[in-house]
Amino acid sequence: MGGEKFGFLIWVSSISCLLCLCHGYVPADNYLINYGSPNNVTVTGRVFISDTLASNLLTSTSETLAASNRNSVSDIYQTARIFTGISKYRFSVAPGRHWLRLHFSPFHYQTFQMESAKFSVSSQTHVFLSDFTVKSRVIMKEYYLNVDTDHLELTFTPSGNSFAFVNALEVVSVPDTLFNGDPSFAGSHGSFNELSLQALETVHRLNMGGPRVTPDNDTLSRTWETDSEFLVEKNLVKNVSKIPSVRYKPEFATEETAPKSVYGTCSEMNSGANPASNFNVTWEFEVETGFKYFLRFHFCDIVSKSLNQLYFNLYVDSMMVVRDLDLSSYEINALAVAYVMDFVTVSEKKSDRIRVSIGRSSIHGVYPNGILNGLEIMKMNNSKSQLSTGTFLPGGGLTKKKNVGLIIGATVGSLISLVVIGGFFILFKKRRGGIITQRLGLLCLLMEQLQPQVELLLRV
Ligand SMILES: *[C@@H]1O[C@H](CO)[C@@H](O)[C@H](O)[C@H]1NC(C)=O
Ligand SMILES: *[C@@H]1O[C@H](CO)[C@@H](O)[C@H](O)[C@H]1NC(C)=O
Ligand SMILES: *[C@@H]1O[C@H](CO)[C@@H](O)[C@H](O)[C@H]1NC(C)=O
Ligand SMILES: *[C@@H]1O[C@H](CO)[C@@H](O)[C@H](O)[C@H]1NC(C)=O
Ligand SMILES: *[C@@H]1O[C@H](CO)[C@@H](O)[C@H](O)[C@H]1NC(C)=O
Repeated sequence: MGGEKFGFLIWVSSISCLLCLCHGYVPADNYLINYGSPNNVTVTGRVFISDTLASNLLTSTSETLAASNRNSVSDIYQTARIFTGISKYRFSVAPGRHWLRLHFSPFHYQTFQMESAKFSVSSQTHVFLSDFTVKSRVIMKEYYLNVDTDHLELTFTPSGNSFAFVNALEVVSVPDTLFNGDPSFAGSHGSFNELSLQALETVHRLNMGGPRVTPDNDTLSRTWETDSEFLVEKNLVKNVSKIPSVRYKPEFATEETAPKSVYGTCSEMNSGANPASNFNVTWEFEVETGFKYFLRFHFCDIVSKSLNQLYFNLYVDSMMVVRDLDLSSYEINALAVAYVMDFVTVSEKKSDRIRVSIGRSSIHGVYPNGILNGLEIMKMNNSKSQLSTGTFLPGGGLTKKKNVGLIIGATVGSLISLVVIGGFFILFKKRRGGIITQRLGLLCLLMEQLQPQVELLLRV
């Protein structure tokens, strides 16, 4: 009897140990495709299935599979699929948030010179790439989108008589809670409350003060780049690494928000033990103008010895976004707890730079110090649901020609009305002594004449 109980206990504890070990997020949808290849390939522990297995998802007739024999950074870049006409992929998915990752690495195959290919990629709801050309040796484009139906349809559309290509693709579920809530506007009152409708494109994802983190060290297969190339003055920071001390607390950030390898390293202001030092640490990022951006700051106080020692200011584009930021008060009196803060730029960017700074707090007697552990900058879709400006609209359509006709029609129309009005004025001036009723009658006539033009203008 006692032995049985003991055995049961061992069984229970081993099950809970197993649960502890595999508590990582398991995505409901996990499409990983190695285009152009008859073989599965394994990249950092994940299997990208062969194009042959994925071809049942394709609803087009173009059948060019390209292979190269060059040396490339990863096996998924050795092959590609070429689309010479409009091609659609249909993925059955569980409704919810997903990553869409498109991998490109151009090479020459027969008459196809992929670095000159020009094409668009869109879904039923958003445009991701418009008249896109791959300019670097390898590029991965990552998007976060909410699919509210049971399928995601991706359309590759060649521009003009060019062609499209792709080396590999990922459509993977993301926890719905990864980006939620209403982020504050950076440097202004109020908050953005339409985050759930947004599609986002990852522009920069950085691990401050530490090494590059690769998809195998991230439960959501993300890549976190190093930050030093973005620092305006590199000598103003020092690297700190204390990965084992990072803690996740319920209600705060989780392992899915960012891994310990991100929270456990930071760039710290290098005050050189001088309590009078006063400077800002600034990172500068290139972004595309005409879009709003979502900024997520990852903090974890791995530098303080005790509570309420670290106070600093946080700036975005020279605007104060948090004054006297005190992580130990947010984290309910604890140190080294993973914490995030989200912001959205107030309006579409007019300049092609985003500057992020940390600087000393003006609280009297506080030692000049500040930290940043991680940062994500994501482009938000514009009002036409595009993440890339151009003529392309969601669902694979182009801006309709009819609109051009309408605009021309309206412009010509308003010119005619100007001439008509001018004519009437001349007429009136010549007949100065005319009766008022006559004038009113003419005015009515004029209004009647102008009505269609006004309507056209309103429709444009
Ligand atoms: C490729 O991977 C898929 C999915 O993991 C599997 O079903 C299939 O058997 C694999 N094919 C080969 C040839 O290994
Ligand atoms: C900080 O770490 C990064 C990445 O490991 C490295 O490139 C950089 O030179 C380090 N900076 C300093 C000041 O040590
Ligand atoms: C990544 O994970 C491997 C083990 O999977 C570990 O040895 C390595 O230190 C990790 N790197 C980082 C930066 O966390
Ligand atoms: C830090 O940056 C902010 C915003 O640009 C600026 O107002 C402040 O004067 C800067 N502080 C120092 C010491 O340069
Ligand atoms: C992004 O697209 C959605 C429709 O998918 C739209 O509701 C939303 O307003 C767009 N965002 C912006 C900032 O215009």
